[in-house]
Amino acid sequence: MARKKITVVGAGHVGEHVAWFCATKELGDVVLIDIVEGMPQGKALDMREALPLEGWDCDLIGTNDYADTANSDVVVITAGLPRKPGMSRDDLLDANAKIMKSVAEQVAKYSPNAIIIVVSNPLDAMVYLAREVTGFPPERVFGQAGALDSARFCCFIAMELGVSAKDVNAMVLGGHGDSMVPLPQYTTVNGISLVQMVENGKLSQEKLDAMIQRTRMGGGEIVKLLKTGSAYYAPALGAVEMVESVIKDKKRVIPSAAYCTGQYGINGLYVGVPVVIGAKGVEEIIELKLSEDELAALQKSAAGVQELVDTMRKMGYVK
Ligand code: NAI
Ligand code: 2OP
Repeated sequence: MARKKITVVGAGHVGEHVAWFCATKELGDVVLIDIVEGMPQGKALDMREALPLEGWDCDLIGTNDYADTANSDVVVITAGLPRKPGMSRDDLLDANAKIMKSVAEQVAKYSPNAIIIVVSNPLDAMVYLAREVTGFPPERVFGQAGALDSARFCCFIAMELGVSAKDVNAMVLGGHGDSMVPLPQYTTVNGISLVQMVENGKLSQEKLDAMIQRTRMGGGEIVKLLKTGSAYYAPALGAVEMVESVIKDKKRVIPSAAYCTGQYGINGLYVGVPVVIGAKGVEEIIELKLSEDELAALQKSAAGVQELVDTMRKMGYVK
């Protein structure tokens, strides 16, 4: 069976790591594309020269020409500016919408059957734009955010409780911004929900609240430390988890920015919800039973995404 073809657009911090993880997991052949001449070629060649050391097999090239990306099965879009200290993801809207529009046009032209996973920020608005520009069905265009935000929540819980992160399963919904919605009732340590742990006295409400807040601000915490860019290891691996589920038709349940058509009272908008990811892309949106407060928080977060879409409309990026 021929290997699948994966294109990664944007060979910066996130993009190069997406390419690297796809190669080292042998998910398919990888094309890394960027507008900067020589840079994707140099990074891809360096990665390719590393593959024999572990015996990983894949073709990996860097390019500035979309012709090399033709007929990709999966395209991960990471092109765009990252934020600087003091900036919110939303401050990137104008600059990154311009980039996303030009990238999405090329992807649609050269890989009309691809599944697109968007990473660029502000995430939920960029997925909306990518879908509209490509004209692809919504199940073939979705965004990485929940995988990362849930991994961050998992990490803080494992650190706090002194348990293996492997046994922690976290669920974070909503837009990829400070209003995201971590859900303690659907976050478990080997099946035991955090709500039950608070009731048992295994975890204090104060500590749980602090972990929720740290998760919401997790991206900003790293921006502040790095000073020159944003996180990339966890974001890249989050996106690769989604690529893997598509390529191997694993049907993983991963919170992702998916196009809602009435689920959770949200209509015609991309927002982070739990989805089943398989060979066809988003194969199902799972509707969890939420408390009134959780639902209100999710809808408030979606309203923030709607504002960004309205701004893109005023700017002429979307109809
Ligand atoms: P970076 O600055 O390291 O890389 C961005 C790359 O995009 C650069 O190499 C640049 O040359 C390239 N680029 C710009 N315009 C392009 C175009 N028209 N075509 C192809 N390539 C183009 O930034 P980094 O850290 O890789 O972040 C990339 C994006 O991902 C940012 O918008 C960032 O905010 C976002 N991000 C999203 C996350 C999420 O969870 N959804 C997590 C981490 C980052
Ligand atoms: C993050 O959450 C910057 O969105 C990116 O790290």
